[in-house]
Amino acid sequence: MNKVSKLLKAIRLILQRPALLNLVLKDEAVLKANFQKEFPGLQLQEMDMFLWPEAAALRITPYAFLSGSSMVTDFALLQLLCRRYKVATYLEIGTWRGESVANVAPFVSEAFTLNLPDETLRQMGQNEAYIQSHRFFSSQLKNVTHLFGDSATFDWTPYQQKCDLIFIDGDHSTEAVQRDTQTALQLRKSENSILVWHDAKADGEYPRYEVLLGIYRALPQELHSKLYLVKHALCAVYLPDGAEASHIALNALPTRAFEIELKNINL
Ligand SMILES: C[S@@+](CC[C@H](N)C(=O)[O-])C[C@H]1O[C@@H](n2cnc3c(N)ncnc32)[C@H](O)[C@@H]1O
Repeated sequence: MNKVSKLLKAIRLILQRPALLNLVLKDEAVLKANFQKEFPGLQLQEMDMFLWPEAAALRITPYAFLSGSSMVTDFALLQLLCRRYKVATYLEIGTWRGESVANVAPFVSEAFTLNLPDETLRQMGQNEAYIQSHRFFSSQLKNVTHLFGDSATFDWTPYQQKCDLIFIDGDHSTEAVQRDTQTALQLRKSENSILVWHDAKADGEYPRYEVLLGIYRALPQELHSKLYLVKHALCAVYLPDGAEASHIALNALPTRAFEIELKNINL
């Protein structure tokens, strides 16, 4: 098919299904160009949690290895942050199976996790099995409080200036990440509170500009120098303390490797 025929076919398909336009507008190359235009000269930097002494002993549990699971290293990051910075109050946006909050719960005094209510998920046409999987790992945990609502309209008043660490892992569109980040800034207990975003990277190396655009738009410019992508994980972290960092290098040779022992913990 030549280019003109392809263009005509694409226009016909877009007219039939306008949502297809998002495939172009949300293409990572397009978003990267938007990011570079909006933040010219900004160099993404990366921190390495495995330089921290706390990383010498790490046990990640539970880990489901199911569709949409975070990377093991994302849960390692949350655990390390909680241990290293003595996080007392943890709050996350996006519960799903409760896997992230279950990983963090043993290391904090109290944890709050917000998700869209089951009924809302039903109205959105989500299938029943997906809805049932929500809170699977967290429903029985004593120090975890489940909150229900849309992060855009939820009444955050009781949690303002209360949280040591806020983990943003709900809707990953640029607009939602920007909005949730603005919310998270209000939830910080102090200027020393930590922010973590999931899916700020597409994989262990590559940035995900859809999410990064939302983060950088919401975070005041004076905080940008303390924002890091996390090596070996999908997260970005705002660390008021700062961290040893380097500019991201894609397709770099491995500088370390891990050994993973797997143990089946029967449910
Ligand atoms: C990627 S999952 C969270 C995974 C979880 N943090 C973990 O690692 O185990 C995202 C969840 O956010 C919820 N969500 C999406 N948009 C939301 C919103 N606007 N407000 C609250 N929750 C939302 C979805 O229902 C979904 O369960």
